[in-house]
Amino acid sequence: MILKLNEITKYFGGIAAVEDVEFEVKEGNIVALIGPNGAGKTTLFNIITGALSPNQGSIIYKGKDMIGNKPFQMASAGITRTFQNLQLFGGMTVLENIMAGAYLRGKKGFLQSFYTLPRKCSEEKRIRTEALFLLEEIGLAEMAELPAAALPFGKQRLLEIVRALASEPSLILFDEPAAGLNIVETETLTNYLKHLKKRTSMILIEHDMETIMEAADRIVVLDFGRVIAQGTPAEIQVNPEVIKAYLGEDEQIA
Ligand SMILES: Nc1ncnc2c1ncn2[C@@H]1O[C@H](COP(=O)(O)OP(=O)(O)O)[C@@H](O)[C@H]1O
Ligand SMILES: [Mg+2]
Repeated sequence: MILKLNEITKYFGGIAAVEDVEFEVKEGNIVALIGPNGAGKTTLFNIITGALSPNQGSIIYKGKDMIGNKPFQMASAGITRTFQNLQLFGGMTVLENIMAGAYLRGKKGFLQSFYTLPRKCSEEKRIRTEALFLLEEIGLAEMAELPAAALPFGKQRLLEIVRALASEPSLILFDEPAAGLNIVETETLTNYLKHLKKRTSMILIEHDMETIMEAADRIVVLDFGRVIAQGTPAEIQVNPEVIKAYLGEDEQIA
């Protein structure tokens, strides 16, 4: 198990944005966090990355309680995230964005298990080669030398995901990665997320139900800051409480 949240509670003013939230993430799994706007999803991400401290609860990551750690400590422990709004370095090239992601961690080489490069390679050369490998995987290699800002929106989103991956995190938090993507891009994204399970664990905030049903191993449903259900996609799909809270009485998920 990579992550376990116990009794996480966060108040803003007198209002609990997140209350007694408990769930876990197994290695190589994708856990989807779903729920209506204001349910507390982004707040939970901010807590897991150390940007907010909860009023109560523990965050057990790789067996250690991380409460009180700052964002840079969470990042160097291997937790990274993407944001609801794009946060690319627009003036830098696509390749440089990925390389910046790799340097962020300051780690000696990611993808070492996939790739063996001669030791004499300079650090920069190795990071460049690895970055290109990542871009090829997602079909962005041809655009490596373009400024990131010149890419169409959907490609920028994919780029942001690849950049998050470049630091070789143990846990990535994705905040609505499919938002604004067209059908083809969403499919690419879904397949890519599934492919990444071999390398990392993920928590996914997403509204696109097809992506969730296809990629997630487990789903945690939040409503008004509380977990109202959790289980496999198949279980959640037929959970009456979820259908009621999340979609309205008579609808079905997906
Ligand atoms: N910094 C903040 N200050 C005060 N209230 C906040 C803050 N961030 C979030 N909230 C409130 O907490 C609740 C959960 O918000 P959020 O985590 O953004 O939900 P979601 O991401 O599920 O839409 C909402 O009621 C929101 O208004
Ligand atoms: Mg949000």
